[in-house]
Amino acid sequence: MGHPHPRHVSVGRPKIDCMVSQLEGAPGPAVAVGPADPTDSVAPVAPADPVAPIDPGGLAESLRPFGESRMLPRAAYVDPAVFAFEQKHFFDGGWTCAGFAAELANPGDQQAVPVGQGSVLLSRDNGGVLHAFANTCRHRGHELLPCGASAQRPSIVCPYHSWTFELDGGLKTAKGFKGTPGFDESKWGLVELPVTQWHGLIFVDGSGGADPMDRALAELDELVAPYEPERLVIAGRHSYDAAANWKILTENYHECYHCPVIHPELCKVSPPSSGLNYRPSGPWVGGWMDLRAGMDTMSLDGTSLGVPLRGLDETGLRTVIYVNIFPNVLLSLHPDYVMTHRLTPLAADRTLIECTWAFAPEALDKPGFDPGYAVEFWDITNRQDWGACESVQRGLGSGHAVPGPLSPDEDAVYQFVTQVARGYAGQLPWRQRANAPAARATTAGQPAGS
Ligand code: FES
Ligand SMILES: [Fe+2]
Repeated sequence: MGHPHPRHVSVGRPKIDCMVSQLEGAPGPAVAVGPADPTDSVAPVAPADPVAPIDPGGLAESLRPFGESRMLPRAAYVDPAVFAFEQKHFFDGGWTCAGFAAELANPGDQQAVPVGQGSVLLSRDNGGVLHAFANTCRHRGHELLPCGASAQRPSIVCPYHSWTFELDGGLKTAKGFKGTPGFDESKWGLVELPVTQWHGLIFVDGSGGADPMDRALAELDELVAPYEPERLVIAGRHSYDAAANWKILTENYHECYHCPVIHPELCKVSPPSSGLNYRPSGPWVGGWMDLRAGMDTMSLDGTSLGVPLRGLDETGLRTVIYVNIFPNVLLSLHPDYVMTHRLTPLAADRTLIECTWAFAPEALDKPGFDPGYAVEFWDITNRQDWGACESVQRGLGSGHAVPGPLSPDEDAVYQFVTQVARGYAGQLPWRQRANAPAARATTAGQPAGS
């Protein structure tokens, strides 16, 4: 897919306090842009969390300054032990996206979603409160719903021996236990996990110890809020099963160095060298790209058959923002729709990708509205990307594969890779603020292309 990158700044986004171009009077959030500050990465990483079973010398190479660094050690993409570490400490170790709030809109709505090492049961209670529970019965551990399934009923019923729980997790009935000495029903409620909603996305913290999401994503919130993703309606959806590591898919998302080679359709509507990347201080990475003159959005002919999102200014209508929230969301903000990829790693070399396209309600109200103009464009581009990523995975299967260098256009890949490398070295992305001795400096990066 296409993506942010960066070298030549033609137009700055006025919503951003652009540390590179120093736009006069730029309103909005103070999100720095430009290549990562190398001084952030050369400092030794003091482990505050568990350390991954991976060569520390290779990680040190990944953490060298931008321009001198190398990609992650090969084991990061092929070794089941590293994958198990990621499932436990990345996907169960902080906020991970588990779905869309709109799919659990009503009391009694339930959904079981794979997250990290196990699965999570989401439920909406009678007061409208969303809950997340470990999807394991308090009796003998049966899943409360099969992973991936949904239900709509007034209580949570285990399919094995029918223990029944309230929508807020409390044990309601346990057949045969009534009056049993020493059996205290109040002690056998479901294991509840922190859950939050962010612009219509549901995030679950399997560790219970992640930094508060609103604080960690404060800068990103200011970029995303004008698009009002929580107001939009999903009108297109695709699932892809890619034979590639989840990080290969994310790294691919973060650069358009490959676009002139594999994405002719994308390059027709968006110049692959346009835009710039942000330098976030939270657990996200991203940037923006411009639309070519005369192109309204990312579609095969640049035409929009939807409605421009009502909160966008002139810049928002001429650009596409691509952001990745660690570890599993790729959020692509277009003038007239929001595309979301949610990644679920299944194995070191396999990832499930759920892709949705959401539009303004007023677009869906247009007679004969068809989301195909956006869906078809990105489905073509997605498949081009997954094909490249699967080939990278096969290439990294070779024992002769050695971590390579990053091009000047791959500074967002560098940001992601260093985020992962720090996580492997014991500084988990969702605990950075707790771990960091001081907030990151936001000294200006080098101007793109300089
Ligand atoms: S395992 Fe759920 S009722 Fe027995
Ligand atoms: Fe791509």
